[in-house]
Amino acid sequence: MVRPRRDNSIGQPRSANDESQPTETARTENRPRRRDRQPKAYSRRGRLTMRRDRHPRRTPLGKGMRRRIRRGILRDALGVPARPFASACLPPRDRPPREFPSRPSLIELHRVIPFDYYPRTRIVFGPGKIDALGELAGELGARRALVVSDPGIVAAGHTEHGLVSLRRAGIEAHVFDQVEENPTTANVEAGVVAARRWDPEIIVGLGGGSSMDCAKGINFVFTNGGRMQDYWGVGKAAREMLPMIAVPTTAGTGSESQSFALISDAKTHAKMACGDKKASFRVALLDPLLTLTQPPRVTALTGIDAISHAVESYVTNARNSASAAFSREAWRLLSRHFHGVLDRPEDIGDRSGMQLGASFAGLAIENSMLGAAHALANPLTASFNIVHGEAIALVLPHVIRFNGSQCHRWYHELLELAPQQNGLVDIDRAPEKLAELVAQFASHAGLPTRLSQRGVDAAAIPRLAADAAKQWTGTFNPRPVDAASLATIYEAAL
Ligand SMILES: [Fe+2]
Repeated sequence: MVRPRRDNSIGQPRSANDESQPTETARTENRPRRRDRQPKAYSRRGRLTMRRDRHPRRTPLGKGMRRRIRRGILRDALGVPARPFASACLPPRDRPPREFPSRPSLIELHRVIPFDYYPRTRIVFGPGKIDALGELAGELGARRALVVSDPGIVAAGHTEHGLVSLRRAGIEAHVFDQVEENPTTANVEAGVVAARRWDPEIIVGLGGGSSMDCAKGINFVFTNGGRMQDYWGVGKAAREMLPMIAVPTTAGTGSESQSFALISDAKTHAKMACGDKKASFRVALLDPLLTLTQPPRVTALTGIDAISHAVESYVTNARNSASAAFSREAWRLLSRHFHGVLDRPEDIGDRSGMQLGASFAGLAIENSMLGAAHALANPLTASFNIVHGEAIALVLPHVIRFNGSQCHRWYHELLELAPQQNGLVDIDRAPEKLAELVAQFASHAGLPTRLSQRGVDAAAIPRLAADAAKQWTGTFNPRPVDAASLATIYEAAL
């Protein structure tokens, strides 16, 4: 009779009737000669005995880093499983199953991307916080304010609410309300005339993304001279700019968190991204009560836009730890509250989630830019007058599929955060699942899902693709794009 034998590696008795295990005789016969044997990974007590230089997963990490990872000091931050070297040395049958296939391996830890995140914008959030506008402007030392708004926001009473707060704080306030949707250089020039008349010490952008972008544009030209076209690009303002406060009344663009203004050339219709750190708002005043007056279509369009900001910024080739943190939280909030804000528009919880999500997505863009979906959407707006949110909804699912081969792990991470996702999805199917989820968001919002529904035909695709290939934002897409590849995405969306 063969007595039960204790396995050295796991310390459990093994049955003699277990035919899956070799017999003692066979084990002896098949044993390699002593000099050919591999060193034991574990001693009887389970301690690691393998020499470091013969370790199968030896990496160029320094000794100190390996020691800290083994102790668990960096484990949680870096996503490394506990005792990585020890588990690797167990025989294959005894290795624990991988619980989180999307976690980075030790090798991937070498892809550490440097970044410079300099928070310039104070974020004040809460229902009713519009009443603090005057106090916040006073803290910045202002005595005269120019409030940039649009006629719809004035009609909704939000502009007056802000003016009352400013005047209560002893600040002389004037309104410029000639902002149009997708603001143009003509809007900026009219605003600069108003600014020269009232000589403000602070500018308040109170409204949607158009009002906030126009406020930035006015500030560029009022403080630095020239015309708006001179600031197309990054860091073109030589002189300091006036402090600004953003009071968003929509949850979408995230302009309140960014240093970029999107202004269209009134003649050429080119959409100019004008960015400068000095153009960042000093304060973003987030009051979800102001978003209650958004018409349902605006809620849908701005919501889809914010969702695209979270998804695109999470995978760009400029992504880093800071941008990923904002993208992830933005996506978590937006995917949880998008259906709610459409179905229960008066729910302040859903409104708050959308407004915070949109603002965090703006911070993510500030740190990692956007990708091919925005490059494809801009020509649709310029050539077919398709509004931004609708254009984004048409192309984003197809961009996710296009990027899927390179970004499946990151898309899988987003899926894990979405409440619509029940259980883990196979990591290779994550891009398709995420594309379906985004398309479902657009359908739920009543937005078209095919380009042909908006009058785009196959004959227009070469010209659209050529325009899309010139968009700066496309250079940040994780998978390189050119006119040919962008044309295939348009065709898929047709
Ligand atoms: Fe956008």
